[in-house]
Amino acid sequence: MNQDQLKQAVAQAAVDYILPHLERNSVIGVGTGSTANYFIDALARHTFDFDGAVASSEATAQRLKDHGIAVYDLNSVGELEFYVDGADEANDRLELIKGGGAALTREKIVAAVAKTFVCIADASKRVPVLGGFPLPVEVIPMARSHVARQLVRLGGDPVYRQGVVTDNGNVILDVHNLHITDAAKLEADINAIVGVVTNGLFAARPADVLLLGTATGVQILKR
Ligand code: A5P
Repeated sequence: MNQDQLKQAVAQAAVDYILPHLERNSVIGVGTGSTANYFIDALARHTFDFDGAVASSEATAQRLKDHGIAVYDLNSVGELEFYVDGADEANDRLELIKGGGAALTREKIVAAVAKTFVCIADASKRVPVLGGFPLPVEVIPMARSHVARQLVRLGGDPVYRQGVVTDNGNVILDVHNLHITDAAKLEADINAIVGVVTNGLFAARPADVLLLGTATGVQILKR
């Protein structure tokens, strides 16, 4: 199976995983990216089994609507049983790097609200140590240079993601050459820099379940 087929397989596995727990009034948090897109496509076959979704990006909201799935503002939703989203990297503690698609802040907000965060990824995303994938940091535009200098102090090499503006009107710095052994501490340290909106480490709120697409089938890893 190629990478796309593995993503499709975990997306279907996520639908199978959450479906027995859904009720007609359930609202699901839905992430962003190519794996999340496959999840939306698979979810669209079950629109009568749940009420609607909260989207972690404008792109996801549009795809959900295109499939006839109702999209709700997070502020109008009481609770989310599940958040389903991809990742750029995942370690054995189910701590993640996310934000390759620049949607990290809304992803982190929806993940924070959800009772269960189901991460879906192909096997290439599983790593022993986070940091091979450059860590995305969403930054208020006027603070870009200040934040970049502070990130260098923390040991990283920030690179401005040219031409990208987030759904929140901000910019992204991708931090290269990090070897992240204490993800929760680095997440907190970066978020403490003035001008940072948030960073793509999901360690304070890691995934609860990782559905990993491998050549021999979908593995289910839990914390
Ligand atoms: C979006 O901002 C990201 O967090 C994605 O979840 C992540 O980049 C994974 O994307 P793919 O599913 O496209 O690999």
